[in-house]
Amino acid sequence: MREGIHVLRHADLTVADVDALQKLFDGEYLKDFGPWTPNAPYGYSPADTHVLAFRGRDLAAHVGFQRRRIAVGMREVVVAGTGGVLVDDGSRGTGLGGLVMRRAQQAMRTERDIEFGFLGCRPEVVPFYEKAGWVQVHATERCISRLDQKSVVQTEGGPILICSGLRETSEWPEGDIDLRGTPW
Ligand SMILES: CC(C)(COP(=O)(O)OP(=O)(O)OC[C@H]1O[C@@H](n2cnc3c(N)ncnc32)[C@H](O)[C@@H]1OP(=O)(O)O)[C@@H](O)C(=O)NCCC(=O)NCCS
Repeated sequence: MREGIHVLRHADLTVADVDALQKLFDGEYLKDFGPWTPNAPYGYSPADTHVLAFRGRDLAAHVGFQRRRIAVGMREVVVAGTGGVLVDDGSRGTGLGGLVMRRAQQAMRTERDIEFGFLGCRPEVVPFYEKAGWVQVHATERCISRLDQKSVVQTEGGPILICSGLRETSEWPEGDIDLRGTPW
């Protein structure tokens, strides 16, 4: 049984880890979005790396990320597309969300070529991510719809946040963003 915080590759999740993730996500989203699935959670892109935080023996928080080369303006950028950010209802407001976000950023920095963490979120959660050190960028974003996995969705002004995936700081490039796949 796991305790504490673990950073795991998707392929290294045990059956017990997947069950714990199912319980955490279904506890929050089953009624509105149906059951969580590991390989296309709610139609979003799956994580290739997971940060799992246990309180005692229960999984209390998760954040995942997936490495992908996306297009930004005239450039290609390797990002850690970040999603599945969830803290169990009973553990919210205790700093655990901030802790797993920082742990995820540390994990991104150990991967050779990830330049930035990248995520999209609802406007009301922006302050949470900013407190974890993420920064908002403003751009038009294109991606494949998570709902049908084929139509192209273009959004403007939906909050997008990034963090540095490198030890030295670098500038997020100007221009429209093409996620070249479904969002996270
Ligand atoms: C959003 C969420 C992950 C925050 O986790 P948490 O463990 O409660 O957050 P923390 O206790 O680490 O909070 C860190 C800071 O962010 C702030 N914060 C947390 N949730 C916030 C929210 N929804 N809106 C604004 N600020 C928030 C806290 O006040 C705290 O600020 P402080 O350092 O000044 O005290 C959690 O509420 C959750 O799982 N919500 C449901 C799922 C969700 O919305 N996920 C995000 C999808 S984009």
